[in-house]
Amino acid sequence: MNSVLKKDLEHIYNNLTEAEKQKLNGANVLITGCAGFLGYYFMHFFAHYREVFGIKQITGLDNFIVGNPEWLTNLEKATSGMKIYNFDIAVDDISTIREAAGAQYVIHMASIASPVFYRKYPIETLDANIWGLRKLFDYYKEKPIRGLLFFSSSEIYGDPVADQIPTNEEYRGNVSCLGPRACYDESKRFGETMCYLFYQQYNLPVSIARPFNNYGPGMKLNDQRVPADFAKALLNNEDIVIYSSGSPTRTFCYVADAVTGYMKVMIYGQCGYFNIGIASPEITVSQLAEIYTEIGRRKYGYTGQVRYEVPQEKNYLTHNPMRRCPDITKAKTTLHYNPTILVHEGVERFLDFLKEEQK
Ligand SMILES: NC(=O)c1ccc[n+]([C@@H]2O[C@H](COP(=O)([O-])OP(=O)(O)OC[C@H]3O[C@@H](n4cnc5c(N)ncnc54)[C@H](O)[C@@H]3O)[C@@H](O)[C@H]2O)c1
Repeated sequence: MNSVLKKDLEHIYNNLTEAEKQKLNGANVLITGCAGFLGYYFMHFFAHYREVFGIKQITGLDNFIVGNPEWLTNLEKATSGMKIYNFDIAVDDISTIREAAGAQYVIHMASIASPVFYRKYPIETLDANIWGLRKLFDYYKEKPIRGLLFFSSSEIYGDPVADQIPTNEEYRGNVSCLGPRACYDESKRFGETMCYLFYQQYNLPVSIARPFNNYGPGMKLNDQRVPADFAKALLNNEDIVIYSSGSPTRTFCYVADAVTGYMKVMIYGQCGYFNIGIASPEITVSQLAEIYTEIGRRKYGYTGQVRYEVPQEKNYLTHNPMRRCPDITKAKTTLHYNPTILVHEGVERFLDFLKEEQK
């Protein structure tokens, strides 16, 4: 196993409390969207700790709309009790999945997350978040599951007004219901409403995670989110190209910290809704490029430059939020979530991971 991935899985495990670990004991899991970036960590985590937790079934569903990665096929072959299905959660019948009835935790991640790709597949994105979630609720509403985690997004806040940054969970958002990002933002919002209603009516142990800009191993290099674009440029020793002024700001949360948070949200249940990200530093896209460049030069002989270009896609920047920064007090106090991997360290881990994979 890649040494960075191994260290990250241990980080996740070590940051769960004993009570949280107890709640994973003997729990079979069903994960939609298992072939994506975050799926990479969830699938590896459950495979790696399968025996520790006494997990018998790890079931992954994905329609591979943005690719069927080799790592998943290899992991399935190497892991007893892991089964992957080519399955469209918005369309296919979940009762045909033999393992579905035995799942204690259900993780609904199916939904393209990269803006370039969800603009290409807007209706499919909406369907995965709405019909896909509804199908899961209809199937599980009267089953004795321990938790159903819905992956929402920080995009439900849209482009927050200045005095709502850092943004806490009670901010209602500044979102357009029309436009190139609406398929994603609005279907996540509606998905949250559905979680709330099924919790109210069926007392289902649902929970909602609102991820803020994760990055790291598992991202496909052609994913077209900024951290993947920069990593790809570095590996190929090409210039980093920024398709904006470089001034929008984000806090970038390394995947191992983020997945620790998602586990905690999933186990919490109780219709909890939590920002999961890192509170600082809030940096510009240009600063992120500088971090990549500095690490690339220092460790990997990188000689490329940072360039600015006009995006070819007309809607690339439409409704792109200028600032994104979470207030994570609620997750810190309620879940003891405490992300520690700052962006310099996270980018270094990501690049080390990729270099080790190349070998
Ligand atoms: N990574 C982040 O920073 C971030 C930020 C906000 C929200 N999220 C949310 O977290 C979840 C996972 O994100 P990710 O980065 O792994 O996304 P990703 O795009 O890398 O992976 C999503 C996966 O879902 C699959 N999928 C899409 N539609 C499907 C369908 N109808 N049926 C079955 N599978 C389907 C895709 O094939 C893909 O493998 C998504 O719901 C996303 O919206 C992630």
